Amino acid sequence: MSGTRVAPHVFVIMGITGDLAHRKLLPALQALDAQGRLPDRFFILGAGRRDLEDDALRERARRSLVEAGASGEDARRWCGRRLFYQRLAGDDYSSLARRVEAFEAEQDLPGNRVFYMALPPSAFQGHVDGLGRAGLVRGPGFTRLVVEKPFGRDLPSARRLNALLHAHFEEKQLYRIDHYLGKDTVQNLLTFRFANPLFESAWNRDRVESVEITSIETLGIEGRAGYYEDSGASRDMVQNHLTQVLALMAMEPPASFAAGPVRNEKIKVLEAIDPIRHADAVFGQYAAGHIGGRKVPGYREEPNVSPTSRTETYVAMRLHVANWRWQGVPFYLRAGKRLGRRITQAAVTFRKPPVCLFKSLGVCETHSNVLLITLQPDEGFSLYFDVKEPGDAFRLRTLPLRFRYAEEFDSLADGYQTLLLDVMRGDQTLFVHADETEAAWRLYASLLDGSMPVHEYAAGGVGPIEAEALLAHGHRWQDI
Ligand code: BG6
Repeated sequence: MSGTRVAPHVFVIMGITGDLAHRKLLPALQALDAQGRLPDRFFILGAGRRDLEDDALRERARRSLVEAGASGEDARRWCGRRLFYQRLAGDDYSSLARRVEAFEAEQDLPGNRVFYMALPPSAFQGHVDGLGRAGLVRGPGFTRLVVEKPFGRDLPSARRLNALLHAHFEEKQLYRIDHYLGKDTVQNLLTFRFANPLFESAWNRDRVESVEITSIETLGIEGRAGYYEDSGASRDMVQNHLTQVLALMAMEPPASFAAGPVRNEKIKVLEAIDPIRHADAVFGQYAAGHIGGRKVPGYREEPNVSPTSRTETYVAMRLHVANWRWQGVPFYLRAGKRLGRRITQAAVTFRKPPVCLFKSLGVCETHSNVLLITLQPDEGFSLYFDVKEPGDAFRLRTLPLRFRYAEEFDSLADGYQTLLLDVMRGDQTLFVHADETEAAWRLYASLLDGSMPVHEYAAGGVGPIEAEALLAHGHRWQDI
């Protein structure tokens, strides 16, 4: 987030032939370069198991960049200048070390290195150990390691992974990515809360009735059965993305807007939440249905999914943040695939007036003010309040006061561009600390033992009906 300039360096992508590298990382790096935000002496070394020539990698990368919107000529020139390939043979990483050093000598680089693990979690251990053995964990300049989610699959595996990383790297070298933290709208939650005292003064148990965080998609698993069968919505969305939004919504103001203070406040809030019990959650799995007029198969009919799979594609839950600010305010979380709409939003429902003044006029009910923060798509805020309809009859109508990013700003930055730039500048504010990831796994431990009932819901709908019963005190989920 800072304005520090990026120093010359080598950016090593482990897993360069994979989908993540081509769909997200290379387009984000090329876009940053095109905006003039990268130094002249910046080189990408793609590492992989395949036997490939630089030119073969460049040709595939060129196509990916064009698909992401770059012009063919720009993409070709950029790849030729910036992108190189290094084969990793077996567990010998010394060839990678030699290549990095040769590169640095040739290009007169100061020895700054970023290693990005664009790899499945099963490959982390081998690669981290390999970097360690080859002496690549500390260099003449900075050395940083970027790790993609999923960060473990439960608390014990996350602890093992943290121990493995800490055996080779210091925490200040580690950048655990949660791409939701790179979204401008998610970062803006902090600005919204802490730059606008009007809301912050009402952001507590005295004024707030409930908080809801929803992140739902129309997409299914998009050919990722191998990963998703073992993950499910709890591990894919809740433990990371939703928990990060929850932490930003509920945390106390940090002492300053820097990595240490921000991450400490997020950890504190997660530690104030009681672990979620079975009775506080509902799991669902999509059955066949219709989305946008198209028939879509049920989860168990997706390629490579077991026909008896019990993997959840939907999770709803309620939880309590047992601290001074939030005691007694329910937080409701919901995430799911193949629902009728794509939306990520946080809704704060404020308390109703203590009495209804308008009974004698035939109006017995006022409504809660609701602040709806839409994180994507159609990003913005709406604050709902009651107005009197014009005319003799006394009738109330609930109407929104709206702000939409698209009406005020040209465009929102892509999350990966923001996060990659922060890695290169050495700003850890938007990355997840080891303690944070463990605190998040601790919350959901009891839901991950495979014994939660899984309810079916039709694709294209609102999710399993059982989720309604989770809400207490007459609360309702926001319409989707
Ligand atoms: C990813 C999950 O982390 O986030 C996907 O693995 C999910 O399953 C995606 O579709 C959602 O991201 P976004 O940015 O589209 O909300």
